[in-house]
Amino acid sequence: MSANTPNFPPDPWRLRETAPDPAAHFLNETLFALGNGYIGVRGTGEEGYSGPAGTSMDGTYLNGFYESEPIHYPETAYALAKTNQFMLNVPNAKGLRVYVGDERFDPLTGTVEDYERTLDLRTGMLERRLRWTSPGGRIIDYRSRRLVSFDNKHLLALQVQVTPVNFSGTVRIVASLDGAVKNLEAGDDPRVGSAVSGPALTLLAVEQDAHYAALVQKTHNSGFHLVSATRTHVDTAASATFLQQGLRLEQAYTVAAVQGQAIEATKYASYHSSRDYPEGELAERSRAVLAQAQADGFDALVARQAAYLADFWQQADVQIDGDDALQQGIRFNAYHLLQSVGRDGKTNIAAKGVTGEGYEGHYFWDTEIYIFPYFLYNKPEIARKLLDYRWAGLDSARRRARQMSHEQGALYPWRTIAGEECSAYFPAGTAQYHINADIAYSIKQYWDATGDIDWLRACGAEIVMETARIWTGIGSYDRKGRFVINEVTGPDEYTALVNNNYYTNAMARQHLEFAAAIAAKLAAEHPQDHARIAAAMALGDDEPAEWRRAAGAMYLPYDEELGIHEQDDSFLSKKRWDFENTPADKYPLLLNYHPMVIYRHQVCKQADVVLALLLLSDRFTLDDKRRDFDYYEAVTTHDSSLSSCIYSIVAAEVGYEDKAYDYFMETARMDLDDTHGNTRYGVHTAAMAGTWLGVAYGFGGMRVVDGAVRFAPTLPRQWRRYQFHIHLHGCLLRVAVDADGTTYTLLRGAALRFSHRDTVIDVSTAQPTHQEAA
Ligand code: BGC
Repeated sequence: MSANTPNFPPDPWRLRETAPDPAAHFLNETLFALGNGYIGVRGTGEEGYSGPAGTSMDGTYLNGFYESEPIHYPETAYALAKTNQFMLNVPNAKGLRVYVGDERFDPLTGTVEDYERTLDLRTGMLERRLRWTSPGGRIIDYRSRRLVSFDNKHLLALQVQVTPVNFSGTVRIVASLDGAVKNLEAGDDPRVGSAVSGPALTLLAVEQDAHYAALVQKTHNSGFHLVSATRTHVDTAASATFLQQGLRLEQAYTVAAVQGQAIEATKYASYHSSRDYPEGELAERSRAVLAQAQADGFDALVARQAAYLADFWQQADVQIDGDDALQQGIRFNAYHLLQSVGRDGKTNIAAKGVTGEGYEGHYFWDTEIYIFPYFLYNKPEIARKLLDYRWAGLDSARRRARQMSHEQGALYPWRTIAGEECSAYFPAGTAQYHINADIAYSIKQYWDATGDIDWLRACGAEIVMETARIWTGIGSYDRKGRFVINEVTGPDEYTALVNNNYYTNAMARQHLEFAAAIAAKLAAEHPQDHARIAAAMALGDDEPAEWRRAAGAMYLPYDEELGIHEQDDSFLSKKRWDFENTPADKYPLLLNYHPMVIYRHQVCKQADVVLALLLLSDRFTLDDKRRDFDYYEAVTTHDSSLSSCIYSIVAAEVGYEDKAYDYFMETARMDLDDTHGNTRYGVHTAAMAGTWLGVAYGFGGMRVVDGAVRFAPTLPRQWRRYQFHIHLHGCLLRVAVDADGTTYTLLRGAALRFSHRDTVIDVSTAQPTHQEAA
């Protein structure tokens, strides 16, 4: 835990802060952030924050709404990424200030008692209650509630109640819509903020009256229009006025408050951009959404939010009996994934979701390898949307391939928002060609789990084949007839620009095989689709055979002496990093050593070969896995938050129970305990999904190979029982494990076949439950 870690009681369904904690303010803005996959609002109070500079980053983000800026390289080179895209901090619509007499409610002045702030994972509500005594001695009870609607992606709603405790008199409520916001500027940490300073949006128009406020703005370079709007209602208001101060619009309400009687202010806010609708419709749509929200009322929104979440938890809840703090972490992670994931086919899930500006709102391979399986097995309709996003980016990927001198095929960007490569540091960016295989891998998983042939015919097949071509483009046969892939970077970002990265080659092999199999399947079963796709990509008749040949000859480096897979051609001949003499404050290494210093050593930031052991599980023996694990564990820092969950899963498989548990625990409460020390810039969505992988793949021993699922559950001795769900082939299955054994229950769907270790099991509506003794 870091010094400023908040200490939340281990409540399985809630995050509850029981005393104001100024030291953890910045961090808590992230942890109490709300979102719905589109809007993200940090947990800052609606009254604003008056603490010292650098201890807060109030922000509101829209997934996929970005500005672009040229990347300035002091020394440039051909085909480096030219333009960065970054998620914008958009107008703050949640502002609501309360004045008692002439004193402004500010929890950092006066005194605060009976304080509680909760995020309830069953209702999706962020709630704060407190009693405040102003410096002048007026006492109020303050309660605020906030939600970002899962039902309507454009809508945010909040309600504040103020009750004068020891006085009657004037109370003023000032609601604001504040466009004077900017993005966080990046410092030396490449994982933080953007390179742009100052406001990024130009004001085009303002609309307001005593209850409604709207800012119409435009981005300079990406050319999007945005309408941010609010509608506020204060009951018992004697008068209402409005004013504009620069980019800040205010609606002010004066109330003759009576001691003991609550005043209630309700505010609805919406965001609409021209990424979704024609410019001309934005203002009208904003008014309509807000008018409808007001007509429905706050309580109706509260009820809908709870209903949405009840359904979500029914499908996706993971239960752990015996450890409330862990249970809290697991549900918190699932909840944040749901809050972060784009589900409109145009957006994806950023490394930090919509909770902060770390990594600038970019999407990475984190989606396909970590987060996609979470949604595939818990909410498959969202997984499909993540694939639709890649489909939408296929043409950009084709253009990128041409820039990179590939005459054919498509190369997906390492990091992006709208599809163009945004990675300014190519050794740990563009060079990670494995992104192509990662995307193909997720498509295979989707196909294996759903059998959705329509999507494969319409989109998936073309993505898989176009991206497969890149391997035959960059790879070649060496003197020994081996197919080699040179000058790439694998997942481990502490090793760059190497030949024959094991993970890349092994994943490329599977990708090539899959592409050839799909081509054959389409040709045989859907000749019209095959002809259409072949024409669209000018597919040569002999290409699938070439893919098969390359896959068959793929070089997969193995060191006979050590009996391990080599991370790449040079890794094992490098000097081992001097871990014994590296003080704790030199981690993460990336913040303390020049990249070249790191690259020249045997040291890993994250799972690389070990990740291949999981993803291509059936291609290795258990002994292989154990030896690889032992070797690479000793040289891995886990400086990337994507690492420990994978180590946990493979440890579970090779029988290292304690390590499996310890690595799992590192992942499960990573953000709640701020173990990487940077959660204030946003949650770690890949690690959050890694928690679920840890339960299902790790302790549950689940593997899906070519559509066949098997489980090999173990029960960590620290737990009494655990359970998780999976959606597969249109069915929903619950897997519950305790000391007596494993109980499988079919919750939805007609029938499902799977294996428990080597035993084949059938469940059906007639016989939905099956028990296997421990
Ligand atoms: C990791 C990458 C990851 C990125 C975004 C980096 O620290 O090394 O694998 O894609 O973070 O989460």
